Amino acid sequence: MEERAKPSPKATTRAGFNLREIEAIAYREIEPQDDVRIGCGVAEFDRVLGGGIVPGTLVLIAGDPGIGKSTLLLQVADKLSTSQNSVLYVSGEESERQIKLRGERLGVAAENLYILPETNLENIFCELDRIGPSVVIIDSIQTVFSSLIESSPGSVGQVREVAHQFLLLAKNRTIPIFLIGHITKDGAIAGPKVLEHIVDTVLYFEGERHHNHRIVRATKNRFGAANEVGVFEMSGSGLVGVANPSEMFLQERPENVAGSVVTACMEGTRPVLVEIQALVSSTKYGTGKRMTQGVDQNRVALLIAMLEKHVGLQLVGDDVFVNIAGGLEVDEPAADLGIVAAIASSFKNAPVDSHTAVFGEIGLTGEVRGTTQPGVRAREAQALGFQKIVMPASNTAGLERLLGVSIVGVRSVQEAMSELF
Ligand code: TYD
Ligand code: MG
Repeated sequence: MEERAKPSPKATTRAGFNLREIEAIAYREIEPQDDVRIGCGVAEFDRVLGGGIVPGTLVLIAGDPGIGKSTLLLQVADKLSTSQNSVLYVSGEESERQIKLRGERLGVAAENLYILPETNLENIFCELDRIGPSVVIIDSIQTVFSSLIESSPGSVGQVREVAHQFLLLAKNRTIPIFLIGHITKDGAIAGPKVLEHIVDTVLYFEGERHHNHRIVRATKNRFGAANEVGVFEMSGSGLVGVANPSEMFLQERPENVAGSVVTACMEGTRPVLVEIQALVSSTKYGTGKRMTQGVDQNRVALLIAMLEKHVGLQLVGDDVFVNIAGGLEVDEPAADLGIVAAIASSFKNAPVDSHTAVFGEIGLTGEVRGTTQPGVRAREAQALGFQKIVMPASNTAGLERLLGVSIVGVRSVQEAMSELF
């Protein structure tokens, strides 16, 4: 579905970008710039951006329809709009009435927020010139089209050209611009993927319709750590930041029940404790099924093979289900030990002590390997009242004296099993 946008001479000057004499600059003569960031007042949003909004950046916020993109950006717009800062919210999807309706629900009182229901890029630029906003939000990039380009609205050519114009605008006026992009299944409408290389920062909304939590993850950030996350809960009055995600994900954990184990994961720079659940039951037909939710099925199959070979659990005739409670996705090898412990616990019908947390990567020979950030993980478990942590022996240095917690370093999965059961 690749289409080529016809270059138009007007298009390059539209964002106020004039050709000028350009010379290369000696690196050593470039003035270092201070890291100026604007806190937007939505703490989790600031966090995922790397500590606030950098002026002059183009940020893409992508996610499935209905996940909460417009809600979040309206909340951000509300916080950013002050007497000095005007915010222009361009909506190609909803009328001003609809936005007002949502705003009422969110308690938006913005004094300097302007709503522009418009999809024509040239018209949007006219209004931009008139208002001169300090922040621009485009909801969504797929609805905006330039009449200077022949391809149809939403096509790859249009979406790229429009995004490029906003990039120039952001750089020239040194204002932040947020582009909302829908993840589309339909090939006729360009998805956010085609914009990832153009923008400075890409944020993806993750979450499931059946769960209230929403994770906003930075998959690219020219001005901060990639993979940083913001955690929110969708409430009746918009998205509410979750300061302690571990608490939220462990809320409904059953205690001292076979098949439930808590592991410490890293989400960006933040540790999150999650409950891994496993159910092992004898299969009705032939070889057992392996089904997973929130963890990679192949990884689980590999860990099961490892358990059979090195721990001697006979799981061939069993169905094995593994699930991350709360609908979180975990793709870290550090969760291996937790997965294995949950499966063994269900198989043996023996609960793992509910005040014990585990983490560690497992190799094919059954060795427990060190992970990144062991201290951060262990301290999170300590903060949530866990009394014992079973973790890689190679990671325990410096943690022996963690207050009130017994740190048990293990070298192999066999050692871990005898420690847990
Ligand atoms: P929305 O921000 O419109 O999603 P997107 O822009 O990503 O398509 O969010 C839509 C959903 O959020 C909708 O199903 C209703 C729900 N919602 C709440 O639960 N609470 C709220 O305060 C708001 C505004 C929306
Ligand atoms: Mg929307």
